Amino acid sequence: MSDKTHLEKPYKNILVSETENPIGLKTGLIQINRPEVLNALNNELMQELVNALEAFDRDIETGCMVITGNQKAFAAGADIKEMADAGSIEMLVRDQFARWDRIRKLKKPVIAAVSGFALGGGCELAMSCDMIIAAESAKFGQPEINLGVIPGAGGTQRLTKAIGKAKTMEMILTGRMYTSKEMFDAGLVTKVVDNDVYLEEALELAGEISSKPTIAVQLAKECVLKSFDSTIESGLEFERKNFYLLFSTEDKFEGMKAFVEKRKPEWKGK
Ligand code: CAA
Repeated sequence: MSDKTHLEKPYKNILVSETENPIGLKTGLIQINRPEVLNALNNELMQELVNALEAFDRDIETGCMVITGNQKAFAAGADIKEMADAGSIEMLVRDQFARWDRIRKLKKPVIAAVSGFALGGGCELAMSCDMIIAAESAKFGQPEINLGVIPGAGGTQRLTKAIGKAKTMEMILTGRMYTSKEMFDAGLVTKVVDNDVYLEEALELAGEISSKPTIAVQLAKECVLKSFDSTIESGLEFERKNFYLLFSTEDKFEGMKAFVEKRKPEWKGK
């Protein structure tokens, strides 16, 4: 159902809007908005971000979501000031990174439009998205080692899966920053674009995906994510069952009929 209350909520740390696309569904846009601290991700911000993402995920008028920051920072990491005095038990009880798991459970694709710093939790947030469009100026890194800790929101796992052990070890053990070109070459970033068009490019990609048959898009995403934690055997089975399942959708019949009749399909999203 299309419930727009999330667009009117009084968020304190994010800006939420939606954009129309030339064809198909809309794109939900979330801008992280704590510029005074380079968009450091505090608990309240993460709660708002996850709530807004889930609301777009439920909205039948939304096809895809984009998360962005500003020119200077996508996000410079978890809020260090919020963690500075915390001990292990407090962190364990707070379990603040647990809510990040909800991002992984989103059914619709999420694109990170990154400019400036994407460090620590900022890099991990970008990696939690399904694709990353990066401005040339973007800087990626996992500098937690310089704070006496390690990545705690998926960095050690997602980076290794995305770019392999050799580069991940270097990134995490040195805490160095890397350019978007280096991260594109390593396989983390989908596309590097000029600094002034990174958001436009991300929205264009989101618009293209939003024009595709919804259920196929969601099951395709689910299958690709499944490959991260399954054997090839169970992953192939999972993919095959989802492929067969799509043969119950109206869009499958329309898509194949339209091909045979040499015309454009009209998707119904069911
Ligand atoms: N948390 C809290 N505040 C932060 C922050 C963070 N992660 N990153 C930047 N800020 C604040 C700074 O404290 C500063 O605030 P004040 O003006 O009140 O002093 C403001 O943002 C501007 O920052 P700088 O003056 O440092 O800006 P700069 O351009 O000189 O440097 C930077 C930019 C290199 C990104 C530097 O800010 C920096 O190193 N930030 C921390 C990066 C980091 O270590 N991230 C990892 C955090 S831990 C984590 O993310 C754990 C996890 O796995 C989830």
